[in-house]
Amino acid sequence: MMKKILLTGASGFLGWNVCNLWKNDWKIFGLVFSHVVDIPGVNVMRVDLTRYEEVKRVFFEVRPDVVMHLAAVSAPNYCQEHRVESTKINVDASVNIAGLCADRSIPCVFTSSDLVFDGQNPPYREEDPVCPVNAYGEQKVMAEQRMQEIYPQATICRMPLMFGRPAPASESFVQPMVRAMVEGKALKLFTDERRSPLSAEDAAQGLLLAMEKVEGMIHLGGAESISRFDFGRLLADVLGMQGARLTPCLQRDVKMAAPRPRDVSLDSTKAFSLGFKPAPLTDGLAHLADRIR
Ligand SMILES: NC(=O)c1ccc[n+]([C@@H]2O[C@H](COP(=O)([O-])OP(=O)(O)OC[C@H]3O[C@@H](n4cnc5c(N)ncnc54)[C@H](OP(=O)(O)O)[C@@H]3O)[C@@H](O)[C@H]2O)c1
Repeated sequence: MMKKILLTGASGFLGWNVCNLWKNDWKIFGLVFSHVVDIPGVNVMRVDLTRYEEVKRVFFEVRPDVVMHLAAVSAPNYCQEHRVESTKINVDASVNIAGLCADRSIPCVFTSSDLVFDGQNPPYREEDPVCPVNAYGEQKVMAEQRMQEIYPQATICRMPLMFGRPAPASESFVQPMVRAMVEGKALKLFTDERRSPLSAEDAAQGLLLAMEKVEGMIHLGGAESISRFDFGRLLADVLGMQGARLTPCLQRDVKMAAPRPRDVSLDSTKAFSLGFKPAPLTDGLAHLADRIR
């Protein structure tokens, strides 16, 4: 019999991709909130994760074998300006879910972020001290710490910037870039902000591996560290849009609500040693480009 996964954030970019990649191997109960998307082969349920009674009821009804907690308010600028509201889902709901998993002794996988770091000493390993520079990063740190207190066996996956096919209600950071390139618009990209991007397919592979092999913290970064500007150049090359109007700029040139760290590239040696094998960035983007064309 197929095992049951309760997956939060099924309408989000990552959750929707994971549901589509895993739905033939698992019985997935995908939780959504404001976007009730239809995912054939997945049992989609609407739940407000900030309401503990609703979450408890779903655990009772579904009786999951595993919980994959991907839901969040994931936009740093929004979190910066709506701290109370975003803390309810990013921290409180995550801690409640860890508690419910602890009660049942079932695996609990949570997606944290590379933004728990300040960007001054990359690449970052699991044991490096956290030091977030914005509210979203602070919330992820609080969630990590409180989830591990309540359920030390919980699996905390620190994710990098991710790209892939857009979900019906949420897209990755590459889609606006592709649109600008197609429309011939100028695209300002940071030369002084670096990350270790990962495709949604590789993220799904890493999450599965983490679920099976890891208790505690794991970094699931991509194969390479790259600046936003160089990422844009690579994307334009892969799409055959060498004429794309890419303009280099610096973080300080763009005013945003949430401060941004300079380089939060992850050192994922631990995951690599367990079998995590993200594709080279060019291959990941070429795969995505094939689906865009
Ligand atoms: N995308 C990235 O590059 C990236 C990088 C590092 C870490 N992460 C982390 O990876 C995870 C997935 O990110 P993502 O990009 O897929 O996020 P996303 O596209 O913004 O999706 C967020 C999901 O959370 C759900 N949600 C929000 N509030 C909720 C509530 N009160 N009750 C129930 N569900 C709620 C949303 O449901 P509705 O839309 O239906 O309301 C949506 O399904 C998050 O933990 C994020 O912090 C993402």
